[in-house]
Amino acid sequence: MNEAKKNLHGLSEASPVTRAIHGVRHPDPWRALNPPLYQTSTFTFPDMETVDRVLTGEEEGFVYSRGGNPTVARFEEVVTLLEKGDASRAFASGMGAISATIVHLSRGRKAVHLPITIYSGTRAFVRKFLEPWGIPVRWFDPRPADWLEKLDGVLEPDAACVFLETPTNPTMDVLDLRRLSSLCRSKDVPVVVDNTFATPVLQNPLTLGCDLVIHSATKYLGGHGDLLGGVVTGDAERIAAIRGEEGSFLGSTLSPFNAWLLLRGIKTLHLRMEKHTENARAVASFLAGHPKIRRVHYPGLPFHPGYAVARSQMVAPGGMLSFELADVRGAREVCDRLSLIRIGVSLGDPESLIEHPWSMSHRWIDEEERRAVGVTPGFLRMSVGLESWEDLVRDLDRALG
Ligand SMILES: Cc1ncc(COP(=O)(O)O)c(C=O)c1O
Repeated sequence: MNEAKKNLHGLSEASPVTRAIHGVRHPDPWRALNPPLYQTSTFTFPDMETVDRVLTGEEEGFVYSRGGNPTVARFEEVVTLLEKGDASRAFASGMGAISATIVHLSRGRKAVHLPITIYSGTRAFVRKFLEPWGIPVRWFDPRPADWLEKLDGVLEPDAACVFLETPTNPTMDVLDLRRLSSLCRSKDVPVVVDNTFATPVLQNPLTLGCDLVIHSATKYLGGHGDLLGGVVTGDAERIAAIRGEEGSFLGSTLSPFNAWLLLRGIKTLHLRMEKHTENARAVASFLAGHPKIRRVHYPGLPFHPGYAVARSQMVAPGGMLSFELADVRGAREVCDRLSLIRIGVSLGDPESLIEHPWSMSHRWIDEEERRAVGVTPGFLRMSVGLESWEDLVRDLDRALG
């Protein structure tokens, strides 16, 4: 068997675990196990004939790293495999992917529909940019049992998209992707899912009928808290259009070095997600039994309103959870008393992180609006890390007093 064929043999049928480890193999002159890092801004040509062939697509090649780079392309290929799409486009951050995708879908179309429970950065982007540009933004509440019927009543066929997360940040609401995508398909409205909390290991929105899936690769895909990145995956035509337009000219390009770190991080994504989930289950059960905790929001707990839907569309409930204390003072004191669990707004790292949205991520959102989305003064969000869960429970137990 020739080397190129051997390299690809077996991968197409391999499980996602194996694919994450082996990535997408390309023939390498040195037979290196790991992909090379092409830390270069530009690419050169031996002659003008080659320039013509590369620019017309007759020959595979790269021109300038803002448009494309071999290390970044490898990361895109791996995410495409894991998310079961046709193609992906990488960005410098999750917000880079979100803003470019929404701008792309909004062109020539009308309203963008979003649930009120959405990441605060996405909310800020649509408020600060889309609305002033005259693109209507319509908000829906995904928590009442009849939310889909209500959305059906207002969703028009020329809408730009429905953009959502599930589970949502930070309230951990679970939205039914199968039912939502079948409603949107009937109206020809694309559904875009920010899959950051679940990762492609625990949930594949494209296989549930959604059109595009986005990650803040900064979080679980990188997995080590040492980079920023983003990616959107979907059908070949849409991704090619995003790549050639917003992906190239809004300038939010993933650096080759971060793509290389991401390729390394993804190799352990499955293993990490198993441990994050095991730890989150243990922490959630402990918190659910603690007298000072008013509510625990974790889709792996049977009393969570999204428990059944989460079971039907996720492999496991993942490593994120939130919980509520009585008031702002209690929540801030717990953060101050924790010694192992660190205060920080990011998530998906080996270290457990806690954030108080009232004082941190949601600080600049109107108080009434914070309460309306379920962020109460005593609300805390935790990214459960990879430590021994006994240590995490001990730290929380001591901090709660
Ligand atoms: C669910 C979700 N989506 C998107 C983002 C934005 O990603 P980035 O910080 O990489 O721009 C975040 C960041 O916290 C997030 O939590």
